[in-house]
Amino acid sequence: MPRKPTPDMQKWCVDEKGQPRINKGAENVCVDESEICFIDGFHSKLYYRGYSIEDLAQHSTFEETAYLLWFGKLPTRNELKEFDQKLRDNRELPEAAYDVIREIPKDTHPMEALRTATSFVGNLDPEKQKLGIEYVPSKAISLTAKLPTIVAALARVKDGKEPVKPRSDLSHASNFLYMLHGEEPSEEWTRSMDLSLVLYAEHEMNASAFSTVVVGSTLSDYYSAIVGGIGALRGPLHGGANEEAVKQFNEIGSLDNVDKWYQENILSGKRRVMGAGHRVYKSYDPRARIFREHAKRFAETSGIPEVKKLYDIAFRLEELVMGQLCETRGICTNVDYWSGIVYYAMNIPIEQYTPIFAIARIAGWTAHLLEYVSRNRIVRPRLYYKGMLDLEYTLVDKRG
Ligand code: ACO
Repeated sequence: MPRKPTPDMQKWCVDEKGQPRINKGAENVCVDESEICFIDGFHSKLYYRGYSIEDLAQHSTFEETAYLLWFGKLPTRNELKEFDQKLRDNRELPEAAYDVIREIPKDTHPMEALRTATSFVGNLDPEKQKLGIEYVPSKAISLTAKLPTIVAALARVKDGKEPVKPRSDLSHASNFLYMLHGEEPSEEWTRSMDLSLVLYAEHEMNASAFSTVVVGSTLSDYYSAIVGGIGALRGPLHGGANEEAVKQFNEIGSLDNVDKWYQENILSGKRRVMGAGHRVYKSYDPRARIFREHAKRFAETSGIPEVKKLYDIAFRLEELVMGQLCETRGICTNVDYWSGIVYYAMNIPIEQYTPIFAIARIAGWTAHLLEYVSRNRIVRPRLYYKGMLDLEYTLVDKRG
């Protein structure tokens, strides 16, 4: 006879009263101990390895931050020099990777293209059979160095231009902007890009870090784990929100229209503010505060009217969000709200914003992979089954 499973057949998913105990979206589930990152979401605090994001944003480069995340300590000058040199030495892509980049259909979103190209670069790794955790640091240096080259080449080819080969005399951030635009960036642009990479480098067990760890926990290979992270990051509820936030400001179109747009779309409950809300932050995201300052500086000094207009729209919309949604429901603007305006001011196409996030976040993904797999246990949660059991099987031709 068909039947439903009783709660005691799946007691790991029920509470004392026999009701399903579901942590939808794995909210507040702790899957491991960690020493990488701490978020105090009620007091706008973020720490990488115990250092505040404000200090790191002010004093560290992306290279230094990646070292900190992977090796657990700030590098000495010599350690940093050696680490930086390894990154510089690994920027070049094999020619076959450029061939694949040219083959990707032009209407492919850059995050999808990045997923494909990253996977292909993994195929070209002569040590691809070496899956052990001990090989992750060298593979991570190689791929972290190459991601900006891949993203810039994809962007240029999509735009009908030739890729620009990396230079080893420029910093990670500066070289990326150079490859993207085909000219050496100013100090100001380099610093802003570098800062954005520091701010985006890590954020505890977010959806893309978890995806990376889930893949890694099966003892799969490094590239598969990172491609998993890229796939998760692409979604508009996660990293894709930085692109959506700027599209939203563009859609609003003018300062005059912000209040009306908010009323019609957000207060009505029809849509969400992109770049607002967070599973962990119920107070202002400290990264948003830093990005906002940079966006403001660009709005005031870049001389580009479009940047000023976007900033003014974002500023007014944020006033509404902070005064209403944040105050009462903890839905405050997040890191993705302001970052796009900084990139926009640096003349970067909107659809490249999430790939830039990936260029930075590979540092965090790798740190979590190293930490989790070093005392590995395969990730394997359960679901509460609501369906039937023991249904009578009907042969295909007899089904109505
Ligand atoms: N605008 C308006 N309302 C919102 C927003 C928002 N941005 N975010 C959440 N809410 C509301 C929801 O509608 C829901 O309301 P309800 O209880 O009346 O149904 C309530 O807040 C709870 O929403 P959840 O989706 O359950 O919250 P969750 O913690 O699961 O989601 C998320 C977090 C996905 C970030 C969400 O806030 C969101 O969609 N934000 C917009 C996209 C975004 O900015 N993502 C980037 C996050 S940062 C990052 O990943 C790098």
